[in-house]
Amino acid sequence: MKISKELISESEIQSKINEIGDQINEDYEGQDLLIIGILKGAFITVSDLAKRLKVDVSFDFISVSSYEGTETSGQVKIEKDLDIDISGKNILIVEDIFDTGLTLSYLKKILDSRNPKSLEFMCMFIKDTDKTTSLDIKYHGFKIGPEFVVGYGLDFEGKYRELPYLAVLS
Ligand code: IMP
Ligand code: MG
Repeated sequence: MKISKELISESEIQSKINEIGDQINEDYEGQDLLIIGILKGAFITVSDLAKRLKVDVSFDFISVSSYEGTETSGQVKIEKDLDIDISGKNILIVEDIFDTGLTLSYLKKILDSRNPKSLEFMCMFIKDTDKTTSLDIKYHGFKIGPEFVVGYGLDFEGKYRELPYLAVLS
């Protein structure tokens, strides 16, 4: 497979990250924030965002799996849980892409039961597909079509995550 088309450029992505970073700095001013990145896809979004933040922030990561190849399996499994106790903390979950919403609604259920002070979501890309669930996404980057995309953390069978832009495969 080859990359056929750049959908969203590196500079568009970076200016969106700046915008979201500014908003987070404003919203959490004077408060602690724990950012939870969902591995592996969110590692690039989290690291770019981290450099923009001025609030008192810490980071943790959780690993879940729901996909094989280009099709969702409908199953979500925790592969690696958090290291940090989230009770009483302001939590922002950072995800690469919101497709059916299965992953995030599952995580919300689990993390809500650990009694955080607040729990919000940021998704870099929102897919225009049927959502199995409605979830309030506080910060989002770009709305995109239903096609399978790679780059900026997103992979196809482990490849293409390193691309600084978002692309579709041919
Ligand atoms: P959801 O649970 O259906 O919302 O799926 C979200 C997860 O599916 C994301 O964290 C991605 O890992 C994966 N995913 C969904 N769409 C794509 C895509 O177009 N490219 C790569 N991964 C995707
Ligand atoms: Mg993912």
